Amino acid sequence: MRHLIDPLDLSVEEIDRLLATATDIAADRSRYAAVCTGKKLATLFYEPSTRTRLSFEAAMLNLGGSVLGFATADSSSATKGESIADTIRVISCYADICAMRHSKEGAPLRAARYSKIPVINAGDGGHQHPTQTLTDLMTIRQRHGRLSDLTIGLCGDLKFGRTVHSLIRALSRYENVRFVLISPEELRVPDYVIHEVLEPKGIAYKEVTSLEDSMPELDILYMTRVQRERFFNEEDYVRLKDSYILTPAKMALGKPDMAVLHPLPRVNEITLEVDDDPRAAYFDQVQNGVYVRMALIMMLLGLSGPQIAEQGKGEE
Ligand code: CP
Repeated sequence: MRHLIDPLDLSVEEIDRLLATATDIAADRSRYAAVCTGKKLATLFYEPSTRTRLSFEAAMLNLGGSVLGFATADSSSATKGESIADTIRVISCYADICAMRHSKEGAPLRAARYSKIPVINAGDGGHQHPTQTLTDLMTIRQRHGRLSDLTIGLCGDLKFGRTVHSLIRALSRYENVRFVLISPEELRVPDYVIHEVLEPKGIAYKEVTSLEDSMPELDILYMTRVQRERFFNEEDYVRLKDSYILTPAKMALGKPDMAVLHPLPRVNEITLEVDDDPRAAYFDQVQNGVYVRMALIMMLLGLSGPQIAEQGKGEE
């Protein structure tokens, strides 16, 4: 049984296959409409979400399966003190696969240890968000045709932004990738990302504070929201929240084929005018999120593709 807790739980070859499946799904989703007939996905969301929970549910419904779960910790027995270990033992009796989001780093990993079904980390605190990374990789490959030979600017809250930590881990396995880490001093990437990922692999990176100065060299600009929910005090959040705002004037400094990504939700980091720029790719990410999650559910359930459904029909 496989889980997806960390982006590195999938090999580069598995990610290639998963992205190929997601691309095939994008070309004709209807061929996959019965692949998960009779299967159930549980979404266990202890923290708010729009995209991740609903795209997981849309993915399972698109595959012909069904969904159950909770959208807030308040509506689960966590409020009565039930542990993650007991919760996942229970959910294992109801569903075939589950996606879990939790504010505590490591909660999905703990769940996986007690689970009888595949567990997918749908975001754990300020740590990792591997399925957002799959979405990001698909979008980068759509825009540039490759995941190697790229200069990637990551801008905003690099300290608490789990999508940033996961994307750096995933991209660190591709050739000739360079990172420009753009943040205020207080929101730099955690030391473990530098000392456990970038430096041991000899990956080129620089930490800077100016978005404008960095724009001309970027192939990808990955904007992020300042993560208000992870700050210890409101005063610091208010001081830092508008550190970077991407405007058409700043976009004019970028390459013609640069792509702008953002995991969303955005607050104030990208002005609405930028949405009309063909380089804005953040709503492509939203759409790709459904396709990669369809491909991931199939992979973790050991289902290889439309022929499963076609075989099933023949047996009826
Ligand atoms: N990108 C992302 O994780 O969005 P949600 O918080 O809405 O799921």
